[in-house]
Amino acid sequence: MSKIALITGITGQDGSYLAQLLLTKGYEVHGIRRRASSFNTMRLEALHQHSLSGAPSRLRLHFGDLTDASSVTQVIAKVQPDEIYNLGAQSHVNVSFGTPEYTTDVNALGPVRILEAIRSLKIGNKVRFYQASTSEIFGATQEAPQNESTAFSPRSPYAIAKLHAYWTTRLYRQAYGVHASNGILFNHESPMRGETFVTRKITRGIADIERGLQSSIVLGNLDATRDWGHARDYVEGMWRMLQQPEGDDYVLATGVSHTVRTFVETAFRHVGRTIIWEGEDLSEVGRDAVSGQVLVRCDGQHLRPSEVGALIGDASKAKARLGWTPRASFEDLVEEMMVHDMRLGGFSNFTSRAPSRQSGLLESA
Ligand code: NAP
Ligand code: GDD
Repeated sequence: MSKIALITGITGQDGSYLAQLLLTKGYEVHGIRRRASSFNTMRLEALHQHSLSGAPSRLRLHFGDLTDASSVTQVIAKVQPDEIYNLGAQSHVNVSFGTPEYTTDVNALGPVRILEAIRSLKIGNKVRFYQASTSEIFGATQEAPQNESTAFSPRSPYAIAKLHAYWTTRLYRQAYGVHASNGILFNHESPMRGETFVTRKITRGIADIERGLQSSIVLGNLDATRDWGHARDYVEGMWRMLQQPEGDDYVLATGVSHTVRTFVETAFRHVGRTIIWEGEDLSEVGRDAVSGQVLVRCDGQHLRPSEVGALIGDASKAKARLGWTPRASFEDLVEEMMVHDMRLGGFSNFTSRAPSRQSGLLESA
């Protein structure tokens, strides 16, 4: 009998990589998707195509929403999963400052709804639960690198809601004996990354500059640092957490950090351009060293009301207990994203693939 997994946020970056991993491992994979006025399952299209060519599809989607307890409970009751991966979230930190109440509803109360469903359905002794926690909960911490013992200091509505979810997950583990784990993941990117996160904004922007579709990329804080890994490596870590005899909390990170500025320079090198920086603060620009063309500009709208400190993770516990290590280097990651966006032409081509078979994924369309 194959194991059954349920993934919330299956239409997102991590959801698509995790679904692929679990299908490869022989799981029957179910996902909760939100109802939208246009197709939002583009990232899953390749998986569905793959299944069309072989055995009957082991991937099923169900409409639901983390803000709606009844839909969450109904899907769990119907699917009877062995493992639940809660990846669904309003995941954009800057957006959370403008939508604090909604962000809290999805990111903090969403996991409460899932864990209460597990309790009310009396499946707490059978199901294993993964919560997508985040390095953002370390926020303004002075400690570096950060590990599972580092004090929390969240600096955004997003991070505060995720910290609520972190404690909720621990509570259900300790109070009710649920196999529940927090994956405290540092930034991880890929060609499937959403286009408003800085890495994809840069790689897609460069692809569009090279096509003559835009003249420059407009960014915020160029000196922000992040510990960037590859999403493919991180979903492997999520799965490993749920294969342990007990639930626990683990940091996943590369232990190497770079600035946004370095990401920009590295990505432009892929298309043979060297960036020269001129000016200060929001007047700073990045020019092509040869042509002098301004390729990078700054705009205050991309600055946040409060920023986190230098986030860099220590994943020693995951390495020792899970045997997990990230494979892709920073350079590998930038290269893969650039190759993808140069080939596909970034956002416009990605979204223009209007799939006709989308409803084939749905049990209850
Ligand atoms: P993502 O690409 O933004 O995907 C978020 C997913 O959540 C999407 O499938 C989205 O659906 C879904 N979602 C949003 N609101 C929902 C709601 N109300 N009900 C049900 N589903 C909802 O994010 P990601 O990068 O894959 O990240 C996955 C998870 O890991 C998130 O919880 C994020 O906060 C967390 N995390 C990410 C990173 C990272 O660097 N990527 C690091 C640490 C933690 P739509 O497609 O309909 O929008
Ligand atoms: N998005 C964005 N857009 N960020 C910019 C820009 C810009 O134009 N210019 C500079 N930045 C800086 C931000 O200020 C931030 O310091 C850094 O780039 C990374 O921003 P994002 O790519 O939006 O990611 P994030 O680190 O805020 O959040 C991501 O990682 C978290 C894990 O630490 C998200 O995936 C979260 O869901 C996740 O929890």
